[in-house]
Amino acid sequence: MKKFYITTAIYYVNAPPHMGHAYEEILADVLARWHRLRDEYVFFLTGTDDNAQKNEEAAKRARKDVKDFVDENSEKFKELCKKLNISYNNFIRTSESKHKRAARGIFELAYENGDIYKGKYKGLYCQGCEAFYTEKELVNGKCPEHNTEPILLEEESYFFKLSKYKNKIISLVESKDFIIPKEKKNEILSRLKDEELNDLSVSRINKEWGIKTPIDNNHVIYVWFDALINYLSGIDYPDGQKYKEYWPADIHLIGKGINWFHSVIWPAMLISAKIKTPKTILVHGYLTVNGQKIGKSLGNVIEPNYFIDNYGVDSLRYYLIREIPFGQDGDVNEEVLKSRINNELANELGNLVSRIIALVGKNFKGKLNSSEIDKKLSSKLDLDKINNYIDKFELHNAISEIFRFIAECNKYVNEEKPWEKSGKELEKILYNLLESLRIISILISPFMPETSDKINRQLSVKKGLLKDCKFGLIKSYKISKGGILFKKIE
Ligand code: ME8
Ligand code: MG
Repeated sequence: MKKFYITTAIYYVNAPPHMGHAYEEILADVLARWHRLRDEYVFFLTGTDDNAQKNEEAAKRARKDVKDFVDENSEKFKELCKKLNISYNNFIRTSESKHKRAARGIFELAYENGDIYKGKYKGLYCQGCEAFYTEKELVNGKCPEHNTEPILLEEESYFFKLSKYKNKIISLVESKDFIIPKEKKNEILSRLKDEELNDLSVSRINKEWGIKTPIDNNHVIYVWFDALINYLSGIDYPDGQKYKEYWPADIHLIGKGINWFHSVIWPAMLISAKIKTPKTILVHGYLTVNGQKIGKSLGNVIEPNYFIDNYGVDSLRYYLIREIPFGQDGDVNEEVLKSRINNELANELGNLVSRIIALVGKNFKGKLNSSEIDKKLSSKLDLDKINNYIDKFELHNAISEIFRFIAECNKYVNEEKPWEKSGKELEKILYNLLESLRIISILISPFMPETSDKINRQLSVKKGLLKDCKFGLIKSYKISKGGILFKKIE
């Protein structure tokens, strides 16, 4: 059985989740569910980045105990995942002791390998990014992600010999499919080739919050060095069975702002610890409001709960995937969401289902045996095309292709005019349409799991796999009427 290990970034818990986080979870969930449809052995990891200094500072601002504050916000991410129907296999928190052990272990391996040394750090630090910046990287003296001025830090710190791995990282980044999409690969490559690669400060002195380094109790591990290790601790590195089965990760799904950490720093850490590097860093774009990145620190968050409660979880999932070509930024717009619900979900998918279920109910009391397969309809399904889109991470094209087939089914109804037919002829039309619904339900299940379940219940069929997406599989149907799938919005 083929294994598939996919991860999301782990979220800072300095504030509750926003729409950008929902987007990343949904993208990863669609991929995980699609690979399960292929009957692969899937592990999907998500979680929270608990040890960041910015979490500690946010807690202090809120006058709360840091641990309570971090627990509360982490719980909100978990709740959001539940509401979004995110099918993760593990939710890792970097405050868990198994993570702390793993993080100290990797730090120690780097140290034993001669890659950690003591020095003095002097430079600019952005708390929002928990990252160091060079003057050149700033825009008008400000962090390009957070639009805030970084602070000047000058302190004793341990360094990781990142520079030593420059050539290895360049050839890794150059290798096929390590960074997807290509533009994101080129950004990293040109930075690696044009700039000097400095060693990385990987500890902070005299801090309470965070994981103590294994070599010096006065220092905690720099939060990025710590956080990246979640991808290992989340599958029980170093001794767990899951680690043996799933590592290296097939996909680290991340937003574009943290590509450098994943494509350069993370592989160097792994090479130093003599652990295999991940196969693909998959980079998505940002959700924006009026063109500006949605962000906790930027103060323009959109509440995913508002959208879920008002429009339903599957409408939101559908809208985000269908609207934004993978890899690009996308502006969140409620009006566009509404029109997609009305036109595509209610009119095309919802109507198709209710029409067919009504016809089978009226003409055959809900029971129908198999008939001859109608090539006119079955030939319209192009499974390879959909699979190819998924493999290229063009999720927007995959869902469009599924909806193209839904449109073909509606066209078939209009052309065959079942309301004018009877007997064997009518049986054949409706059987082919029921089979189409069953297949559509399988295909949309990664995108809209709740809707897929509702359709399955009406058809009285179990959840199917991709291999079941062929006509003529069900010998007899016994359908039951259900409520409407999508209400139109005024
Ligand atoms: O960076 N649109 O956490 P984070 C789309 N803890 N994606 C967005 C987004 C937006 N407007 N805003 C954020 C961190 N994201 C670190 C990661 S991983 C070892 C440590 C994405 O809470 C962002 O790009 O700032 C990232 O992939 C994820 O949400 C978490 O962001
Ligand atoms: Mg961020």
